[in-house]
Amino acid sequence: MTKHFLSLLDFTPDDLSRCLDLASSLGADRRAGRKGPHGSALAGRHVGLLFEKPSLRTRVTFTIGIGELGGSIVDIPSDVMHADREPLHDVSRNLERWIDAVVIRTYAQARLSIFIDSAPTLRVVNALSDEEHPCQALADMLTLRERWGTIAGRTIAYVGDGNNVATSLSHAGLMLGAHMRVATPKGYALPPEVTSAAERIAVGGAELKQFIDPKEAVKGADAVYTDVWTSMGQEVEYAERGKIFSRYQVNDALMARAKPDAIFMHCLPAHRGQEVTDEVIESAASVVFDQAENRLHAQKAMLVTLFS
Ligand code: CP
Ligand code: NVA
Repeated sequence: MTKHFLSLLDFTPDDLSRCLDLASSLGADRRAGRKGPHGSALAGRHVGLLFEKPSLRTRVTFTIGIGELGGSIVDIPSDVMHADREPLHDVSRNLERWIDAVVIRTYAQARLSIFIDSAPTLRVVNALSDEEHPCQALADMLTLRERWGTIAGRTIAYVGDGNNVATSLSHAGLMLGAHMRVATPKGYALPPEVTSAAERIAVGGAELKQFIDPKEAVKGADAVYTDVWTSMGQEVEYAERGKIFSRYQVNDALMARAKPDAIFMHCLPAHRGQEVTDEVIESAASVVFDQAENRLHAQKAMLVTLFS
């Protein structure tokens, strides 16, 4: 079993299913006000939170989740990661002398690898990088399982930028047997590594198909997912991306092309009037706050898995 969670690809499909089963039972325990059998899973453990980009959901859910598992949080300010202060591999080698795990939100995924390579006893969790957002995808799959029972054979259409969220969603969906459709403007498709991994990681004949036309991608889909057009770190491209992505908005007309009972998903934060309209995000089809709640249960399950 993996000690790190940098990517969905650190899990096998079985690991992922087991993690989601555990997440469901942790969620049920919490809703019933029970401590449950994992309330001391992180007792005596220290977990660092090191965020180089803003966060609401990820920061709050890790803070609460680690506490509910009996662990303690160490909030590490992001300025310790500035290259002119000390090299990253010295930050990590210090941290591993004091703490057991570190949850990192950063830029290049390669920064996470430096932690793993230089500090072998430290468990490392990717709380979002430029390339992947695996914790989000865990919560997304938990949300879909709650709605559908089983994800295999369903069709999930992602519309917008082929970014970190799209990558992790594609990984997770394929590993659970969902057909993935991803519609992006030309030049904003999923990275080639995602498409080349698709066949290897897909379960039960699940396929990944890429589209330029969002209408084609959502046709008959069971879920429609979108994310911001400009991710953290890309702010200088904001105006240009606004123009390029304008026909990728998820609105009532686009949702009408999906199945009549299709679900709308968004990782949040959302920009109403850009990638999604107010009507769609506030509609009965929208599960965005279930996704946000499930960050907590899914990440607790992932941490129990890493420490077991
Ligand atoms: N979805 C998500 O990761 O939210 P935050 O950026 O607020 O953590
Ligand atoms: N793609 C977005 C996700 C935010 C949760 C970003 O990286 O900013």
